[in-house]
Amino acid sequence: MTRSTRRNFTILAAVAAASTLLAWAVITLNGFSDDSLRIALRLSARISFMLFLVIFVARPLAQLFPGRLTRTLLRERRSLGIAFGTNHIVHLALIACRYTAFPELEYPVSSGIVGGTAYLLILLMLITSFDGPTRAIGPKAWRVLHKTGLYFVGFVFVTTLLPDEGDPFFTFERAWFVVLTVIALVIRMTAWFAQRKNAPQP
Ligand code: HEM
Repeated sequence: MTRSTRRNFTILAAVAAASTLLAWAVITLNGFSDDSLRIALRLSARISFMLFLVIFVARPLAQLFPGRLTRTLLRERRSLGIAFGTNHIVHLALIACRYTAFPELEYPVSSGIVGGTAYLLILLMLITSFDGPTRAIGPKAWRVLHKTGLYFVGFVFVTTLLPDEGDPFFTFERAWFVVLTVIALVIRMTAWFAQRKNAPQP
C-alpha cells in the first residue's frame, strides 16, 4: 500500500469515526426519536456543506490569491473530498436508520432518486480519490466525473437548503446559507473571468 493510499484510508477512518460519534451523541443526548434523527441528519448535512464549499472554492482561490495558504488548500482538496464523501455516507446511514426505525414515515421517492444519483456520484468520486482507481479511469474520465459530481452535488445542496413552500425565506439559518453560496459563486466566477482575460488571445 502506498503512503498516499494509507493517508487516504486514515482520513476516511478518522472522519467516519468522528461523524458517527457526533451523530450518536446528538441522538443519545436528545433521546432516540424521529426528531433527534432529523437533528443529526441536518447537522451531518451542514458539515458536509461546509466541506463542499471549501472544495468548491479551493482552485479559484489559489488562482486569485496565489500564496502558501491557498496552495495548501488546493493540495489538500483530495483529503477534503474524502472527508466530505465519508461524512455524507454517515448522512446516508442516518437516512437508512430513520426509515428503518420509523417505517410509518413516507419515504420521499422523488428526492430519493435525485439524492440516490448524488450518492452514486459521491461514491464514485470517493473511490476515484484513491491512487489505483484514479490511474485506472485516466485523467480525462476523472475530470468529467469530478466536475459533474461537484456541480450535481452543489445543485442538490441548493435545492435542499432552499425553503419549502410556505417557509419564511429570511430566517437566520437560510441567510447564512445564501450568503456563503453567493460568496462561493462570486469567487468561482471571478476566477473564471480572470483566467479568460489572461489567456493568450488567438
Ligand atoms: C438519498 C436521499 C436523501 C434523503 C432521503 C435525505 C433525507 C434527509 C432528511 C430526512 C433530512 C432532515 C430534514 C429535516 O429534518 O428538516 C435531510 C437533511 C439534509 N440533507 Fe439529505 N437526504 C438525502 C440525500 C441528500 C444529499 C445527496 C444531499 C446533498 C448533496 C443532502 C443534503 C441535505 C441537507 C443540506 C440537509 C439539511 C437541510 C437543512 O438544514 O434544512 N441530502 N436529508
